[in-house]
Amino acid sequence: MRKHGTGTQVSIIIPTYNESQNILDVLRSIERHLPANMKAQAIVVDDNSPDGTGKIVEDYLENVKKIANYTIDVIHRKTKEGLSSAILKGIQYATGNTIVVMDSDLSHPPSLLPKMLDALKHPKCDIVIASRYVNGGSITGWTMKRKIMSKAATFIAKHGLGVGQKDPMSGFFAFKKQIIQGLKFDAIGYKMLLEILVKAKNANVLEIPYAFTDRKFGTSKVDFGTAKDYFRSVWKLYKLGRSAAKEEKRPSVSFFSKAGRFYTVGATGLAINYLMSSLFSGVISNLWYIHATIIGIAVSMSGNFFLNKVWTFEDRNFGRRHTMLQYCKFIGFSSLGALAQLSMVYLLVDQYKIQYPLALVAAVACSALSNFILNKKWTFKEKIWS
Ligand code: GDD
Ligand code: MN
Repeated sequence: MRKHGTGTQVSIIIPTYNESQNILDVLRSIERHLPANMKAQAIVVDDNSPDGTGKIVEDYLENVKKIANYTIDVIHRKTKEGLSSAILKGIQYATGNTIVVMDSDLSHPPSLLPKMLDALKHPKCDIVIASRYVNGGSITGWTMKRKIMSKAATFIAKHGLGVGQKDPMSGFFAFKKQIIQGLKFDAIGYKMLLEILVKAKNANVLEIPYAFTDRKFGTSKVDFGTAKDYFRSVWKLYKLGRSAAKEEKRPSVSFFSKAGRFYTVGATGLAINYLMSSLFSGVISNLWYIHATIIGIAVSMSGNFFLNKVWTFEDRNFGRRHTMLQYCKFIGFSSLGALAQLSMVYLLVDQYKIQYPLALVAAVACSALSNFILNKKWTFKEKIWS
């Protein structure tokens, strides 16, 4: 294997498995469509194709007239290790800072290359997908079954992994190499692009429509195993997304979002309290106003407790003893808070001559905060700053 590529700008990775009837046409077609001012390197990654694809390319390279801007390398792997792993191999070998990935059966028209490479020149564009599912894109030559499979896979990527692109299953795409720097890939099955889209989270992605036409020669290598690999790879990416979401929770973010929820619950508690008290002291029954107030307090405190347990602190342990104990602590702290609030209002108004409404707001804010911290630490057993 000769190593080419000094000064290469774009590396085009072309995995092959039994493509003897297609590969040379693809290589020639790429040569015809490359922008003239660009130095390009094609990298054929062959998995020891039984039909001799690798040898055909080697022979071709012996005889072809070399041109200045376009070199072709072949990587020979010993066994069939799968499409994504072939692509990854090619990426590791590539010397260009722009990478293109395309199939070797002419389903991916090289005539689209200039447009894709042009789009990548924009600093705000990191990945270009040749897309079958944006306006103007299409598929010809596929059976209904294959079309449904592709759509289903796309649906899963969208709803299971939250991928926003229309064709994350595309095998034809280009990207700036730097966006995958430092990333680790599993390279399972066919879905290299999907893995890149999920892992290079902040990349700017553009989709360009094209017409996919099924191969004329040879057969597709997609089979039942490809579907199985797909689920395996989606599952891995899904788990990755979840653990990242957990790790992302910086203590400050978590603390303030929980405090926000706690205050919201408190506010609904006030509303419930007011509603209940007025209902029982007039509308549905004529209780003594003290009794009505007690009912109001009891209902809103219990409501607050459950909302805070489930929503604010996301505690799903409903064991009876555990919950009762939490409930008692919560009521205890709330009563303590009410007492503190009362003394504070008294102090502020009577001693410091602060206006009552202002004193009330200050006292409520203080007692709510101390309530939050006490309940976080002792009732729901969390670290305070988390
Ligand atoms: N080196 C290597 N090793 N190449 C492989 C292997 C492998 O194990 N398996 C497949 N390839 C090569 C094929 O030679 C071909 O160039 C390309 O990968 C795509 O394989 P096809 O078998 O032609 O796939 P397809 O046309 O059915 O599927 C197309 O659509 C999918 C999306 O629905 C391709 O574009 C896929 O890449 C794409 O994901
Ligand atoms: Mn194909």
